[in-house]
Amino acid sequence: MKNFRKINNDVYWVGANDKRLALFENAFPLPNGVSYNSYLVTDEKNILLDCIDKSVCGVFFENLEYLLKGKKLDFVVVNHVEPDHCATLGELVLRFPEVKIIGNSRTIAMIKQFFEFDIDKRAVLVKEGDTISTGKHEFAFYTAAMIHWPEVMMTYDKTDKFLYSADAFGSFGTLNGNIFADETDFERNFLDEARRYYTNIVGKYGLQVQATLKKAATLDISAILPLHGPIWRKNLNFILDKYQKWSSYQPEEEGVLITYASIHGNTENAANILATQLAEAGIKKIALFDVSVTHPSFVLSEAFRLSHIVFAAATYNSGIFVSMETLLNDIAAHNLQNRTVAIIENGSWAAQSGQKMKDILEKLKGTKFIEPIVSLKSSVKEENVLQLQNLAEEIVNSLKKPLPAPVVNNTKIEPSAFFKITYGLFVLSSADDDKDSACIINTVLQVTDTPKRIGIAVNKANFTHDLIVKSGKFNLSTLTTEAQFDVFKRFGFQSGRNVNKFADFEQNCKKSGNNLYYVTQNTNAYFSVKVISTSDFGTHSFFVGEVEESAVLSNAASLSYQYYLDNIKPKPEAKPAASNGKKSYICKICGYIHEDGELPDNIVCPICKHGKADFELQE
Ligand code: FEO
Repeated sequence: MKNFRKINNDVYWVGANDKRLALFENAFPLPNGVSYNSYLVTDEKNILLDCIDKSVCGVFFENLEYLLKGKKLDFVVVNHVEPDHCATLGELVLRFPEVKIIGNSRTIAMIKQFFEFDIDKRAVLVKEGDTISTGKHEFAFYTAAMIHWPEVMMTYDKTDKFLYSADAFGSFGTLNGNIFADETDFERNFLDEARRYYTNIVGKYGLQVQATLKKAATLDISAILPLHGPIWRKNLNFILDKYQKWSSYQPEEEGVLITYASIHGNTENAANILATQLAEAGIKKIALFDVSVTHPSFVLSEAFRLSHIVFAAATYNSGIFVSMETLLNDIAAHNLQNRTVAIIENGSWAAQSGQKMKDILEKLKGTKFIEPIVSLKSSVKEENVLQLQNLAEEIVNSLKKPLPAPVVNNTKIEPSAFFKITYGLFVLSSADDDKDSACIINTVLQVTDTPKRIGIAVNKANFTHDLIVKSGKFNLSTLTTEAQFDVFKRFGFQSGRNVNKFADFEQNCKKSGNNLYYVTQNTNAYFSVKVISTSDFGTHSFFVGEVEESAVLSNAASLSYQYYLDNIKPKPEAKPAASNGKKSYICKICGYIHEDGELPDNIVCPICKHGKADFELQE
C-alpha cells in the first residue's frame, strides 16, 4: 500500500525505510535502520529525483503509480548511481517507458556499467549549472564529485529553493513518519548517526565537501533534501555548521576519546584507570571504547567528534593487537586531522605496539602527541599508575579551558567584551514595536571607557538604521573567523523591510535586557547600547550610545574584513563583459553586477549597500 508524504503543493517524499538491513554497504551496522529518500515533483512535466533501494521498491512504485494518476513520468534525475538509490532504475524504465534520464556524462557511463537497457536513447546530459524546466519548476544541476562517488551531483530547484543534496547531509536511521529534522529531536535521535554516516561514507573527502559547501553558499536554499535521513527546512545552519567542522577535520567538542584493544584485560585496566583520573580532574566529556567489541564505524565517528584521543593496545605478533590496527588504519583511511593523541602500549616480553601505533598516527596532518608513550609490562603496576596520572594531567592541561564566568560588578557590563572590538564585521540589530531586524556593519569603535560608550556608522539605506532612529537602542554582536557565509546572506544581502531576518534563527540568538536580539552563533561578544547622540554624515548616520550590557561569548578571534574577503565570501565567478560593448562592474562584497556602462560616483549596491569603492571593473 502507498505510503508517502506531501512536502508542499507539488513535491512528495516517496521514499521508504529499511529496519531489517544488518549492514549498510555490507560494512556498517545499522542499529536504527536506514531510510532511502526519493522525491516526486508533479508539474506540467513530472520529474523524479532519484530512485530507491531494491529492498523497499514495492511501496515506492505504489507511491509513484498513485501520485502520477496515470500521467507519464517525464524525467528521473540520477544524482547518484550507487545501487542503494539506483538499483530500481531498470524497473522504473520498464514501468515508465517514456521516462528520460537526467545525468552528467559520468552518470550515464556508470549506468551502462550497472544496466543493460538502452540508456543513450533516453539520456539527457547536463553539465555544471545547466537548467531544465518542467513548467512551474526550474532545476539546475551542480556536480558534487566524491560525495560520495565521482558522478554525484546535486539538483537545485530554483522555484522552491530546494537543494536535492544526494548523499550529503544524510544520516543513518529510519524516518519513522517524521521526515523533517524539525519534527524530531534531531540531536537526540539522529546526530550521532548523521555523524557516523558522514564520517564513514564521505569523511575521507573533506576537501571536496568544503568545495561543495562553498558552492551551496552561493544558492538561496530554503530546504535541503538528502537521499538518507531527515529533510532540513528549518535551522539549516545547524547541519551546515556540523558539515563545516567535520569536513575541515576540526573537533566538534573538547573531550577525550579513550580506545583500547586488550587481550586479557590488563590494557583495559589501564584505560579505565586513565578515565577515572580524567574524571577526577573534572573532565566530563569522556568516551571509552573496547575496539574489539565496538564496530570501528562508531569509534571513527567519535574520533571526529572529540579533540583528544588515547590509543591503548597490547602487542601481538610483534605488532599492534588486531582490532586496534584495524581501527587505526580506518582512521588513517578517513583522513582524520588536528587531534591531540596519547599512546599506551602493553607487552609481556617485547612491547612494540606503541611505536607502531605512532607510525600510523604520524601520517595524519596536524596530529599533536602527548609524550611519552606509557609502556606496561603485562599488567598495571604502581609506577604505571603514576605515569597514567601524569598523562591525565597533560591531557587536562592541553584541553581548552572553559570561559571564565562573566564578571558581574553590580552591572551587566563585562569589560573584557570590549577587547573583541576590531575594525571588523558585526551584526547590528534593533527593533520597533512591530519588527526585529539586523544588518551587517563594519564601523564600530569604543568612544570612552568611563562611562562605556560605543560609536557606530550605519548606512541610511538600511532598515535597521530606521529602527535605531525610532527606538533609540541597538545591539551589536561581534562576528568571529568561524562565521559562515550564510550569516552574511541572512543579515547583509536582503532587506528587513521585506523579510524577517530572524525567522528560523531562534537557536542562534538570544534577547538581552533591552528586548533586542543578539547573535550567539559564531560571535565572541555582544553589546546592548542606548543611543545618546546622532550625527548626520550624508549617506550614513553616526550613532553614539551608552553600553548597558555586554558579555564575552567565546574565545574565537574577531573577524576582520580582510579575513572575510579571503576566506568566507565565495569568489564571484568571472563573467564576460556585457555583449553591447559597455563596461560592467562587480561588487566585491556580494557579487552584484552593474552592467550599465560607467559607474556613477554615488552608486550604492542594491544588494549589500556598499559604495563605489567596493566595485571593480570586470575584465
Ligand atoms: Fe546512499 Fe552513496 O549512496
